[in-house]
Amino acid sequence: MGTGLAIASAADAKENWEAHCAKCHGKDGTGKTKMGQKLKVKDYTDAKVQEKLKDEEMIKIIKEGKKERGKTVMEGYKEDLSDADIKALVEYIRKFKK
Ligand code: HEC
Repeated sequence: MGTGLAIASAADAKENWEAHCAKCHGKDGTGKTKMGQKLKVKDYTDAKVQEKLKDEEMIKIIKEGKKERGKTVMEGYKEDLSDADIKALVEYIRKFKK
């Protein structure tokens, strides 16, 4: 996917979020999408949810994906996104906090 020419920068985080993540987590991070509700994603605008998230864990999940009871609920993005892209996405997610 992509052109292979994408240059990682924080400015791309919004684009990446909307292209890859919003269908489940919602443009606004609340997870109130069809997919998000089916998969029970957390509300990232909730300060309590944010408190429990560790940066390293978020990075790991964005890279490797997430499994629940042996089922992949979220694919990993290490093939599509650079480390810098992923870091920028973590910062982007942090900004959803109200
Ligand atoms: C197919 C739906 C789907 C897509 C697409 C998706 N996610 Fe997820 N994501 C989930 C589910 C389900 C979970 C596990 C439940 C939760 O933590 O909200 C999760 C968990 C996470 C977590 C971990 C939260 C924790 O508990 O530690 C992060 C961070 C995350 N997603 C970021 C992203 C990013 C960034 C993208 C885009 C690059 C993305 N997700 C794309 C469904 C998705």
